[in-house]
Amino acid sequence: RNIQWFPGHMMKTLRLMEANIKNVDAVLQLLDARIPMSSLNPEIQRITEQKPRLYVMNKADLADPALTNAWVKYFRASGAGCVAISAKQKGSAAQVRTAIEKELEDLIARRAIKGMGGARIRVMVVGIPNVGKSTFINNFAGQVRAKAADRPGVTRGKQWVTVGNYDLLDMPGVLWKKFDSLETATNLAFIGSIKDDILDIEELAMGLLSQMQKIYPEKLAERYKLSEEQLQLGPWELLEAIGRKRGMLISGGEVNTERAAIMLVDEFRASKWGRITLEKPYQMEQTQEQEVQE
Ligand code: G4P
Repeated sequence: RNIQWFPGHMMKTLRLMEANIKNVDAVLQLLDARIPMSSLNPEIQRITEQKPRLYVMNKADLADPALTNAWVKYFRASGAGCVAISAKQKGSAAQVRTAIEKELEDLIARRAIKGMGGARIRVMVVGIPNVGKSTFINNFAGQVRAKAADRPGVTRGKQWVTVGNYDLLDMPGVLWKKFDSLETATNLAFIGSIKDDILDIEELAMGLLSQMQKIYPEKLAERYKLSEEQLQLGPWELLEAIGRKRGMLISGGEVNTERAAIMLVDEFRASKWGRITLEKPYQMEQTQEQEVQE
């Protein structure tokens, strides 16, 4: 199936970023803490290469805390600033402000020497759709602004948001044209960054189930009261078993697998399965593989 997940307006957004990158001091890329690598947009990386960068891992309240810590270390080791936040919670804006100021320490010091200490700090805010950009900017601005639509041109209000001595440049959410792996695409679909109406919901649910069987079997078993044997089922059979348990039947006693799939994806996104991170930093995976081999 040919999935049309890179609409024209996203192409425009990338061009808009390219045109505006020279106007900012730093780039703040919001990531989803449940999939830090898959939510990191390589197109954004390319466009923002020359600028100081800060990764803000949002939705940390939904992610596995130990893995979130590991990811923060990972990004910091790569030379970028990184903080984990929940944009919905008060205090997250202050955390990010501190991180930006640390990242721009040199620039701020240089400006102070030149008597330009009052100069505004200009930050481009970018990220994939649904990563929580509007929530973050509202929190940072301390007020509720109209949600910027995910297409340039139809953004309501202005694109520059002025907050204290900051000017934030609010960019529409953007994906990229070619995912380097099916896993990346699937992860983005799991968290709802690729629109569900272009996806097969049963396939999506089965993908989630098999991923969970691998990395968090105990959470899956607990949520759906699964036996050891049921945990070993193939994804389709498991989808049916869960649907049956929830009484999602159609005439003739067959399981309504579509309804079961919708329920599973919704429950995952609402973190009913607990705090989950689907990706580990590369080094961590290596070490664990080694431990298994030894
Ligand atoms: P966007 O501009 O990047 O597209 O994202 P937006 O802020 O609209 O947020 C997308 C969804 O993610 C919203 O949920 C929002 O509430 C939720 N969200 C944002 N930040 C966080 C966070 O740190 N933790 C959690 N748990 N959720 C977060 P929604 O269901 O689409 O809307 P709503 O019903 O919450 O308003």
